[in-house]
Amino acid sequence: MDIGTHAQLAPNPVRRGEFAQPHADLREWIARVESIGELLRVSGAHWHLEIGAVAEMIYRARPGTSPAILFENIPGYPADFRILTGVTNSPQRLALTLGLPLSKQPLDVVRSYRDRMKLHRLTDNVYVDRGPVLENIDRDDAVDVFKFPAPFLHEGDGGRYIGTCCMVVMRDPDSEWVNVGCYRVQGHDRNTVGLRITPGKHGAAIRDKYFKQGKPCPVVIVCGQDPLLYLAAGNEVAYGVSEFAYAGGHRGIAFETLKSELHGLPVPAHAEIVLEGECMPDMLRPEGPFGEWTGYYAGARKDDPAVRVQRVYYRNSPILTVGAPTRPPFDDSFSKCIMKSAMIWDQAERAGLPGVQGVWCHEAGVGRLFNVVSIKQLYHGHANQAALLVAGAHAGNFANRFVVVVDEDIDPTNLFDVLWAMNTRCDPASHIEILRRMWTSPLDPLTRGGPELHNSRALIVACRPYEWRDEFPRVVEASPELRAATLEKWGHLLG
Ligand SMILES: Cc1cc2nc3c(=O)[nH]c(=O)nc-3n(C[C@H](O)[C@H](O)[C@H](O)COP(=O)(O)O)c2cc1C
Repeated sequence: MDIGTHAQLAPNPVRRGEFAQPHADLREWIARVESIGELLRVSGAHWHLEIGAVAEMIYRARPGTSPAILFENIPGYPADFRILTGVTNSPQRLALTLGLPLSKQPLDVVRSYRDRMKLHRLTDNVYVDRGPVLENIDRDDAVDVFKFPAPFLHEGDGGRYIGTCCMVVMRDPDSEWVNVGCYRVQGHDRNTVGLRITPGKHGAAIRDKYFKQGKPCPVVIVCGQDPLLYLAAGNEVAYGVSEFAYAGGHRGIAFETLKSELHGLPVPAHAEIVLEGECMPDMLRPEGPFGEWTGYYAGARKDDPAVRVQRVYYRNSPILTVGAPTRPPFDDSFSKCIMKSAMIWDQAERAGLPGVQGVWCHEAGVGRLFNVVSIKQLYHGHANQAALLVAGAHAGNFANRFVVVVDEDIDPTNLFDVLWAMNTRCDPASHIEILRRMWTSPLDPLTRGGPELHNSRALIVACRPYEWRDEFPRVVEASPELRAATLEKWGHLLG
């Protein structure tokens, strides 16, 4: 198979970082990650609890700089059936995945993303006839999702999850729109899996349209893929836009897809493991619980429409990609910080917000709950506009709780500085607004799993009041000139 080659450049020459060509597939991505020293190989860890606990140990030891982890020789499975986790939880791996200049500074990657979006053009997938994912096909009675080492990740989980760092592909029955979302997929038995989609997500809207017509919803579930497709699937892309086209726009070259045998849905030609089937309106199975991104077992075990799996396509020596959420920090908590910050910055500016110096969605808020924007205030009400747009941008709307606006002298990534600004420039009675009945998740522990899926938002303006900002007390610190001279003469004291 022509794994290492690329289709002709589509007319979308995005500016790229160190790697002139996009990676062809997950395997080339792994090789590149290893070449920059960010891959850890672990041999012999068991799919039952050990892989989850090892991942947790490593993410906690080095938040924001931990490596991707390739688990090999998993007991009970062929030695070459592997698991990859921690796909995008470092600034360098995120930049590498998006084809941006490599940097160890998170805000550099956020800025590069925002610059990229000024050139980004949707580049839809193209169809091809062959691809490595067709190396093996199991049909009907031969289907067994436990052929792959789907991990049992946390002690309180309700089962093994084959889809965590995955992408679920569906076609809108009313149009040609193909949506791709990352939704968790529990293995129930050899040919039945659960699919937990939060109400309000595009995948839920599409699935429910089929159900209203009394029809099953055709799905393709990709359980090992190019991390760029995973980023598109797991972050909020606009309604009606295909995540293939969004990811292809970053790549500069269209993704190659095959048509799935039964439903003609797009299957990435270089994917590792793909399930095809139908989500059945009347086939309810208890799903969960699963240790989730807020750090809790929220969103309890409940009956969900399950998917009957009719086909499994997979490459030789397949790699299952896994997301392992826990109390933060974990793999996706850092990935979300960069992606959300970048997407919110881009979306807020497109909505007309000037003067943005930086956006940072903090990891303690898992990239969603506690988001900070730094602005250079230009007019009355500018800070409130920033708060509203950050809270209301599609990328920042779901499950947010706090938005903090700070002045340009505050680094939004520095929690100490952000809290100092809140403590000194924000009068709670005057500078905090509350938005009510906003969209949240059953995984928000305060919703008790639903069905009420509203929460409130605090918009905290921690800026010098615009109308007397020039009279605001001066900050006590050495001037840049005095600091530079002191560093020159006395810097040796720092060791
Ligand atoms: C690792 C990971 C796991 C996720 N799990 C779920 C899930 O189980 N259910 C869900 O509704 N959203 C989940 N999400 C969030 C959605 O993927 C995300 O909101 C995405 O934008 C949804 O796509 P959509 O807007 O096209 O529906 C997950 C995201 C990631 C990155």
